[in-house]
Amino acid sequence: MKNIKTFLTASIVGAAVSLNTYAQQVQGFVHQQSEASGYVWPTDEQVLDKLDKWQDQKFGVLFHWGLYSVPGIVESWSICSEDEEWIPRDTTMTYDAYKQWYWGLKDKFNPVNFNPAQWAEVMKDAGMKYMIFTSKHHDGFCMFDSRYTDFSIAHGAFKDNPKKDVARYVFDAFRQEGFMTGCYFSKPDWHCSWYWNPYFATPNRNQNYKKERHPEWWKKYQEFTENQLNELMENYGSFDILWLDGGWVTGDDINLDRILEKARQKHPGLISVDRSIRGKNENYQTPERGIPEKQLNYPWESCITLSNDWGWTPNAPYKSPEKVIAMLTEITAKGGCLLLGVGPTPDGIIEQPVTERLHKVGEWLRRNGEAIYNTRTTPVYHDGKTWFTANKDGKTLYAIYTIEDNETLPNEISWTGNLPKGKMTLLQTGKKVSYTCRDNRVTVQLPKGLKCESLAFRFQINTNQR
Ligand code: GLC
Repeated sequence: MKNIKTFLTASIVGAAVSLNTYAQQVQGFVHQQSEASGYVWPTDEQVLDKLDKWQDQKFGVLFHWGLYSVPGIVESWSICSEDEEWIPRDTTMTYDAYKQWYWGLKDKFNPVNFNPAQWAEVMKDAGMKYMIFTSKHHDGFCMFDSRYTDFSIAHGAFKDNPKKDVARYVFDAFRQEGFMTGCYFSKPDWHCSWYWNPYFATPNRNQNYKKERHPEWWKKYQEFTENQLNELMENYGSFDILWLDGGWVTGDDINLDRILEKARQKHPGLISVDRSIRGKNENYQTPERGIPEKQLNYPWESCITLSNDWGWTPNAPYKSPEKVIAMLTEITAKGGCLLLGVGPTPDGIIEQPVTERLHKVGEWLRRNGEAIYNTRTTPVYHDGKTWFTANKDGKTLYAIYTIEDNETLPNEISWTGNLPKGKMTLLQTGKKVSYTCRDNRVTVQLPKGLKCESLAFRFQINTNQR
């Protein structure tokens, strides 16, 4: 096995991180960010191998698709009665009336144009290599035909459609295109009576009773959750990643060890992402809506929305292709993967503003992907807007100069450290570029007539000069 642990540990100096500052600047930040520390390396060789393979992919998509997509509102959270700015709700309705309306969306959710092959085609065209799909979000609405509840897409307005078991078709469409496949599942379930018991009010995200006073309710909740996870892991084809959200319910709360042991018999090396629960079941960490300040010496992924929300909303302010490319570059140089949040429309497709932007990202990756995919980190990993990645042999380096929206290219670019020896190639043209080195600084002359985009350069590093 190529030991990622040794490689990364050797190539990184410090690993302090400050996620909160960045995340709080970002619009739509929803809740407490997990601290990036305390990673526990898996001991299962197959998990380590899969993590290594996953770290080669770099770019994935996280789909949020559920009841909230119908009106185009924030995912699930509006039925949670927490008084937070980021949980907007119709102010003309009482909480109870609102909840009734929300549950009733089940009978309106009828994605007649549901076309998972289009989803996969768009994401492949974007250069993405792995996918995660919301089988069940916090609202408890299942996007799969669960044996354990009728609160699902397969029992609502879409029930007579041959593709009513939608998760099955989504996962299969992506497997067919060679993606690594991951299942998102929310541990909390606000629709389940054993979590939000109708006997009490539902003031916040937690189960609405004391577990010690009602242990039988909690036991039923555990059984329900375990059954659903087993159902997904047994009947929905092969999985690489199980992505568990809702960290205020822990893995221990739902007997995750037992679930994983069983799941890994069918999916050897399954990567468990018990988000924000530090320990052996969080095989990679998931800073949300932000990028860690520095390189991290263990597997991680930033999940970031393409728009402001995880699910589809009307007229969403999408990020530009340049922004996505710059985020992907920075994340890669810091040793992570980018999981980009995209919301399919209520009728079941990926809308045009998304396909257009992602196509441009894909075009860039087709020219410059060598500097991103299958790379690993290098100790001197950036200078200003220039980020560095390395081939796994550590000898070939890539410098990626990232541009912002509407920026034009300068005549030359320069950086400190990572001095090249011999030829330097610009990936956009596949041609040699000239450069000079003075002291510890490299200056590259840019040829005329280049396409205005982030530029990637390949060169051999003079290891003595590092
Ligand atoms: C947070 C939110 C959740 C969203 C997830 C995506 O955990 O609570 O709504 O699905 O982030 O990363």
